[in-house]
Amino acid sequence: MPLVELKDIHKSFKLGSESIEILHGIDLTVDRGEFVAMMGPSGSGKSTTMNILGCLDKPTSGQYFLDGKDVSKLNRDQLAAIRNSTIGFVFQGFNLLQRTSALENVELPMLYAGIGAKERHRRAKEALVRMGLEERLNHEPSQLSGGQQQRVAIARGIVNRAPILMADEPTGNLDSKTSDEIMRLFQKLNDEEGITIILVTHEPDVAAFAKRQLLFRDGLILEDKPVEKRRF
Ligand SMILES: Nc1ncnc2c1ncn2[C@@H]1O[C@H](COP(=O)(O)OP(=O)(O)OP(=O)(O)O)[C@@H](O)[C@H]1O
Ligand SMILES: [Mg+2]
Repeated sequence: MPLVELKDIHKSFKLGSESIEILHGIDLTVDRGEFVAMMGPSGSGKSTTMNILGCLDKPTSGQYFLDGKDVSKLNRDQLAAIRNSTIGFVFQGFNLLQRTSALENVELPMLYAGIGAKERHRRAKEALVRMGLEERLNHEPSQLSGGQQQRVAIARGIVNRAPILMADEPTGNLDSKTSDEIMRLFQKLNDEEGITIILVTHEPDVAAFAKRQLLFRDGLILEDKPVEKRRF
């Protein structure tokens, strides 16, 4: 059973009285342990697809099976619950709470998941140490570099032990050397812990760290191929 399965997904947005179709029938299957990079020009539908994959938005039509469950039939609360247990997110702008320590930022998803204070603290610390931030546990975002902030965000994304990590342009705000460091962390999570990774990027150099590349064009997947010269 695939981890993620999109079947003939269409998505329209209402603009005034008009409805404009943005996704024209996306079919996509992702198995456990894959590392997928979504590429394509601006406006081609990458983020729209990612938002549907992440249960942050619903398709207009089509079916989405996440870990075997038909999520198109779930209500808001059920969606939030399956999202929390199945998917971690990393964003381009890090999305950390300001004036809040790295440790507290990473504890947050576990607070929503109802995990007790001691266990939250233990697991947040462990995730930050895995990201090489043992010296920065009590630093606030403004006291961290961009790369360090993104590592805190990745720690937050994996701390609920979700099988999937999704990221929309996670290196978009980073220089190329820091981008490579962040991509090696994603690779490590994929290789060593079997976390399935799906990310969006504009950069061929970033996509080359993945195992599989999708090329979006005008709301469709034009190409779906393995990465031949993978970067490490
Ligand atoms: N909420 C919305 N309402 C109306 N149109 C939208 C909405 N969200 C996205 N769109 C439109 O859908 C199209 C695809 O947007 P999307 O954000 O998926 O592109 P993208 O491939 O992620 O582009 P980029 O590389 O610039 O991030 C765009 O033309 C955009 O204007
Ligand atoms: Mg986008």
